[in-house]
Amino acid sequence: MKNKALCQLPPMGWNSWNTFTENINEELILETVDVLKKEGFLEKGYEYIVIDDCWSEMDRDENGRLVPDPVKFPHGMKAVADAVHARGFKFGMYSCCGTRTCAGYPGSFEHEFEDARQFAEWGVDYLKYDNCFKVQHMDDETLYRRMHLALANSGRDIVFSACQWGTENVHEWIRTSGAHLFRSTEDINDSWFSIRDIALSQLDKMAYSGPGCHNDMDMLVAGMYGKGGNEYISAGGCSDEEYRTHFALWAMMNSPLMIGCDVRRINQTTKDLLLNEDLIAINQDPEYRAPFRVRCTSNGPEAFVLVKFLSGGETALGLFNFGDVPATVAVDFWDLGLPLSSEYSLRLYDCLNRTDAGMKKEFLKETVAAHGCRIYRCALTKTK
Ligand code: GAL
Repeated sequence: MKNKALCQLPPMGWNSWNTFTENINEELILETVDVLKKEGFLEKGYEYIVIDDCWSEMDRDENGRLVPDPVKFPHGMKAVADAVHARGFKFGMYSCCGTRTCAGYPGSFEHEFEDARQFAEWGVDYLKYDNCFKVQHMDDETLYRRMHLALANSGRDIVFSACQWGTENVHEWIRTSGAHLFRSTEDINDSWFSIRDIALSQLDKMAYSGPGCHNDMDMLVAGMYGKGGNEYISAGGCSDEEYRTHFALWAMMNSPLMIGCDVRRINQTTKDLLLNEDLIAINQDPEYRAPFRVRCTSNGPEAFVLVKFLSGGETALGLFNFGDVPATVAVDFWDLGLPLSSEYSLRLYDCLNRTDAGMKKEFLKETVAAHGCRIYRCALTKTK
């Protein structure tokens, strides 16, 4: 495990929290893994299977060790990890930097090094580390550094996912703490407002995300249709148009892509969206450029354009309409760095409809549905 940079691109996988909260068990995890494998999710990059809060007993054992809930996980966590690994996936678990987890189970405060060793023994590849029940006298920076050192010296490569919620200007210092990803907002829920607010709150922080330390805009709600694990998460659900915009935003903004729906009951529309390899390729582009926002004076206040430079000289272009009625969204190519004098046009490929969208010179102007988007992959082509 020496000298290998972990988690250079945004991680992809599945997390139990959004749909199942405390109702988790070994059977559910293995059924989920089997479906993800069978339906081709692993091939597309969804490799981390993360068990969130509520997996343990309410108290540590007499030796101070975390104990898996014997009803939920009768064979223990190593058995689950082994089964997940045997199917080709990586295994993630959850703890908290305070004395208790957010749902009241034992947290890792003052147990950081023994817990990290325990996770390593079980075969854990990814630890989500939450932010509840903290002691008053310590700041998050110190608490997250502790777990980084503990994991980095546990004898196993473990991705460190700091679930910090975006307080204390986390984006400014988190990279120094050793975390590979950092939750930058409060919990997502299955509503358009939550998707919109999270995206808007991170638009000016995108350049803080980069190889090995990713801005985690929270798990995906796509495909949940209002079936969250509690009332807060359920929140009424979204339309397919809204889920498409959600996934496109997370992809373009370099967020981790952690599925949160019940994949055992996934429908074709959600499957097509989450497996859209053009959107995944934008998220996983090896150059890892932060996107930038382009303003065009003719666009209304709720329309905006995101541009992300990709490897090989290509460019991803996202036209977004956050308004409640259809809107025209325009972008002038000189704002992308393409002057008229260059004699180049853009050849567009429509990533959502997965079709060629022809050549455009100088500008692009589209009608975009309410809460909708258009995502293009563009290549420069000599104008005839
Ligand atoms: C929250 C966290 C959620 C989930 C939950 C579990 O603090 O943001 O993603 O992990 O705790 O209790």
